[in-house]
Amino acid sequence: MDHLRQHITEQIRGNRQKNLFNPRARELFEVNGAFRGALQSIVDSREEVAGDLVSYAAQALVEEVLLVNQFVQVSPAKVAEAEAIYAETFQRMRDGGDVEAVLLTEHFPRLAQWLADLYPADVARAIGAEQVLGNVVCEEYSAPFQLRLLGVTTSELMAPVLDIGCGRSGGLVAALRALGVDARGFDRLAEPAPGVSREDWFQADYPRAAHGTVISNAALSNHILYTARHEPARLPEYQALFLRILSSLKPGGTFFYAPSLPFFEAPLSERGDLVVRVVPLAGGFSRTAITRPI
Ligand SMILES: C[S@@+](CC[C@H](N)C(=O)[O-])C[C@H]1O[C@@H](n2cnc3c(N)ncnc32)[C@H](O)[C@@H]1O
Repeated sequence: MDHLRQHITEQIRGNRQKNLFNPRARELFEVNGAFRGALQSIVDSREEVAGDLVSYAAQALVEEVLLVNQFVQVSPAKVAEAEAIYAETFQRMRDGGDVEAVLLTEHFPRLAQWLADLYPADVARAIGAEQVLGNVVCEEYSAPFQLRLLGVTTSELMAPVLDIGCGRSGGLVAALRALGVDARGFDRLAEPAPGVSREDWFQADYPRAAHGTVISNAALSNHILYTARHEPARLPEYQALFLRILSSLKPGGTFFYAPSLPFFEAPLSERGDLVVRVVPLAGGFSRTAITRPI
């Protein structure tokens, strides 16, 4: 069934950035001919579709959604929901539904509903009229650029180093490891490599007093700023995560991140058990370093 995986990927990519929120989404979406043919032949042959194909399709969908909008948060429950949609779509086809009609009239509307739950209502409303969505910029930056922006040199980094939201390639982790620094990182879109794993920051483990340095450039705090603006009800989840990350610092360890988070940092400064340093950068942004004193 490997060829079907390929067709699933092409089908999902072929509709890249088309806006499922648009009321005319049904007319915008296209069913790739090779994909339709491959599905039809499986339906005709009565072959069983392995569960891992359903997981593959759900994973491909989630990746596509995250590539279009890095601010979407997809919980394990939502992934399971996407798997259920794919499994039911296939069952409907096996039960005699026309492949293309099932996709256009049942599957895409269900995916639209699935997606709607992931977007804050004000954002979904604001983009509803668009036919094609732009990307919410999610770049990876070079290792020297990240360190310069965060105001730290490799010789100042206390080991071990954890890079949260290290990017698909984990470039900073690789560069530090090449210098002999004990560094690892994770990202929900990471291509696994030495020291780099695919993980979501909400599900990751942050053992107490385990890290000499934690870094998160244009990642965690960007998402917190977005959440503060569009989904303030979810801020407590981020606040708890932020505190877990800080508790994973060793005495003398530092969490470096940008952009800054004034509303999280002010109460920490008042608490007095951590040292918070904020340095203004260009464009109204700033970077922060929070150190747990020895
Ligand atoms: C703008 S990129 C920055 C990547 C890297 N830190 C750099 O500076 O090159 C933000 C990264 O955060 C990751 N990210 C977003 N939400 C995440 C989550 N819940 N768990 C793990 N990584 C996440 C994205 O996949 C993306 O690679």
